Amino acid sequence: MPTKNTSIHGEWSSRLAFILAAAGSAVGLGNIWKFPYMAGDNGGGAFVLIYLICIVLLGLPIMMAEVMLGRRGRQSPINTMKTLCEQENTSHAWRLLGWGGVVAGVLILSYYSVIAGWSLSYVLESSSGTFKSITETQAGKLFADLIASPLTLIFWHTLFMVMTIFVVARGVSNGLETAVKYLMPSLAVLILVLIGYSLSQGSFMLGVEFMFTPDFSKINEQVLLDAMGQAFFSLSLGMGAIMIYGSYLSQHASIARTSFAVAFADTSIAILAGLAIFPIVFAYQLEAGQGPGLIFNTLPLAFGQMPGGVFFGTLFFVLLVFAAWTSSISLIEPAVAWLVERRGLTRTKASVVCGVFTWLVGLGTVFSFNIWQSYTLFGKTVFDMLDFLTSNIMLPLGGLFIAIFVGWSMRESSVKDEIAIQNPTLYSLWRVLVRYVTPVAVFIIFLHVIGLI
Ligand code: TRP
Repeated sequence: MPTKNTSIHGEWSSRLAFILAAAGSAVGLGNIWKFPYMAGDNGGGAFVLIYLICIVLLGLPIMMAEVMLGRRGRQSPINTMKTLCEQENTSHAWRLLGWGGVVAGVLILSYYSVIAGWSLSYVLESSSGTFKSITETQAGKLFADLIASPLTLIFWHTLFMVMTIFVVARGVSNGLETAVKYLMPSLAVLILVLIGYSLSQGSFMLGVEFMFTPDFSKINEQVLLDAMGQAFFSLSLGMGAIMIYGSYLSQHASIARTSFAVAFADTSIAILAGLAIFPIVFAYQLEAGQGPGLIFNTLPLAFGQMPGGVFFGTLFFVLLVFAAWTSSISLIEPAVAWLVERRGLTRTKASVVCGVFTWLVGLGTVFSFNIWQSYTLFGKTVFDMLDFLTSNIMLPLGGLFIAIFVGWSMRESSVKDEIAIQNPTLYSLWRVLVRYVTPVAVFIIFLHVIGLI
């Protein structure tokens, strides 16, 4: 058996630290900003159902596989894959998986930072009382004005990138654990406050119905692909983020239990966010399928009406920024760790290089909401393209390859040794999922989308 690899970047102080970091990566804009508008765009219930199925059948097994690879390789995803290929005697082409992840991470962060910038700007709006008794039209105009101004967007995008570089430069676990430990539960509590408000508005059941009554006639390629992509995006899977966090995980922690905890927390927050937002959408007769502006057009209405709205609204957007922050770190970490390992850069230099590059790419997204709005390809703006390419194609493809590598290419003895699932039934179940169910499902969805079946 090959000797165990060790990480040059350090190790988590405990299993809880890993859960917190992985949950911090998973819970972010994907849960609160993206999940509701994706559900809204795709007709609600059917999307939510497929999303949940994808979390259980694809997300969980792949998350376990990804953590397992990280812990076994203990380096950046590129070098982890390289080392594992050598140890397992398989094709070096698997290294591409690591590369794909670095590229996907940078592309995702480029637009993620712009949207996190919207949240930053809403911290300011909320704290200065802009939401007080705001009307639907005024809320709509506030958001439209924000995205129409490239300079304002660039300002907030820059601020968020600087925040990200700052933390990444200091090393992964400094401060991150504490931030996640206190801020994530607070975010959950604030979503509950919003749900409380939604409950008082009389349209709560309309929201519940929208989210949980699947209309099967609405299921088409788009819904399938979006739901699968959203499951990968929300759990931070398929690009090495979870792999690199796994590389800092101690040898004794249970991968199965840890992954379950992370997936459960992430999914709960997304569902709660939906339950907070849709009743408001229906109470004000807004459009559920209005796209990326959904929460920015609806939440100010709720904060503008509820008692203590300035306080709750400001706190909510502050926490949303923190959630985005702990996610953005994991998006850029694979690229940074690779530059440190391969090019021998200091962490600070590597973070600045990656950050500046990502910032530049992000300008494409900034302009796609205003001056480049009419530049589209297949009806998609730069932002739409980046989001589609990463969430719907690159992440599921990454997940597919991870499953094939773990299920078919690695020796079973290595897999068994590293994943260390004690219960034999559970192990067999996971193995069947990774070997057959996951790859076949992703493959079929892809084939279906390109119209082959
Ligand atoms: N999961 C995060 C969210 O929901 C986004 C994210 C962080 C991510 N790291 C990732 C998505 C890695 C895909 C891959 O907001």
